[in-house]
Amino acid sequence: MTSITTTTTTHSTVFLSLLVIFLTTFSSPALAQLSVSFYGSTCPSVFDTVRAATRSAINREARMGASILRLFFHDCFVGGCDGGILLAGGERNAPANGDTVRGFDVIDNIKRQVDAACGRSVVSCADILAISARDSIIELGGQSYSIPLGRRDTRTPNIAAARSDLPAPFDPLNIIINKFSRKGFSAREMVALSGAHTVGLARCSSFKNRIYNETNIDPAFAASRQANCPQTGGDSNLAPLDPQSPNRFGNNYFQALLSRRGLLSSDQVLFNGGSTDSIVRTYSDDADAFSTDFTNAMIKMGNLSPLTGTQGEIRTTCQRVN
Ligand code: HEM
Ligand SMILES: *[C@@H]1O[C@H](CO)[C@@H](O)[C@H](O)[C@H]1NC(C)=O
Repeated sequence: MTSITTTTTTHSTVFLSLLVIFLTTFSSPALAQLSVSFYGSTCPSVFDTVRAATRSAINREARMGASILRLFFHDCFVGGCDGGILLAGGERNAPANGDTVRGFDVIDNIKRQVDAACGRSVVSCADILAISARDSIIELGGQSYSIPLGRRDTRTPNIAAARSDLPAPFDPLNIIINKFSRKGFSAREMVALSGAHTVGLARCSSFKNRIYNETNIDPAFAASRQANCPQTGGDSNLAPLDPQSPNRFGNNYFQALLSRRGLLSSDQVLFNGGSTDSIVRTYSDDADAFSTDFTNAMIKMGNLSPLTGTQGEIRTTCQRVN
């Protein structure tokens, strides 16, 4: 009896070992899962280091939290969360990015600090961006969440996708819904993610047409924005996306849409008599509903086709390939 049990155990152990070897050798790296504890043994201080460095960057310049959050969105939406946006001379020069994405030096600086803390370069730039975006949300007063990790950095930026996949401030609602739906997001998730515009700034060139030509805008709000955004020139003058609190994460953005004070045309189309009006109303009434949906959608966005396993590389400097 004993010997039979032993033999069975040995057989199943051998079988299991073979199965593990088979799976780790032959399973597609694309199937590899991200995991919260990915750097648990190789770089346990990654969270503390990114958190402190993100905080000090925001203390130096309040807008930086918003800029990092946007970098993460533009990374994930273009060929997946693979650090592609960070490479000099690639995706970041596409029209939707050109001149308006920022924070590259801050991410490089965080990467240097993480590598110093862990004694070697084991954490990808794509993961550092994901953690720093989450920490930015926390610093600005938003909800925390756990981030699955293990993304690797691309060697090949996806410039064509940067042109086609990112939403533009002039896009009508159906196009915006469609661009998010191609990434697997519902209209409700798209509206929740747009709530990121509760923080940060936009350039006059991004909202000029809206404040001079559109009619679904509060006249006093249009006049006050026109004061710092002339019909010709002044293209890089800045205005807050959320008129009340550009450095505080909350649902004020949705309340602004209800009073027709969306800054971008693409903000106001979310509440303009169309299919997403009721979602905007929900979030403007219920900060918790917004917070929960936003958090879930951010985690989902962070899972957009990451490179894993042996794909890509762990960059040493985020702005260039090794
Ligand atoms: C729904 C479609 C979206 C459009 C059309 C859009 C477009 C824009 C534009 C035009 C700007 C201002 C750029 C400038 O003039 O400098 C901006 C800023 C920003 N966007 Fe979006 N965006 C969208 C969705 C999102 C999402 C999903 C996120 C993040 C989850 C996000 C985060 C931000 C942040 C935080 C800023 C401020 C950045 C800063 O101050 O540096 N946006 N967006
Ligand atoms: C307003 O619309 C007209 C007609 O489309 C256009 O020529 C003009 O440039 C727009 N004004 C601004 C400030 O964008």
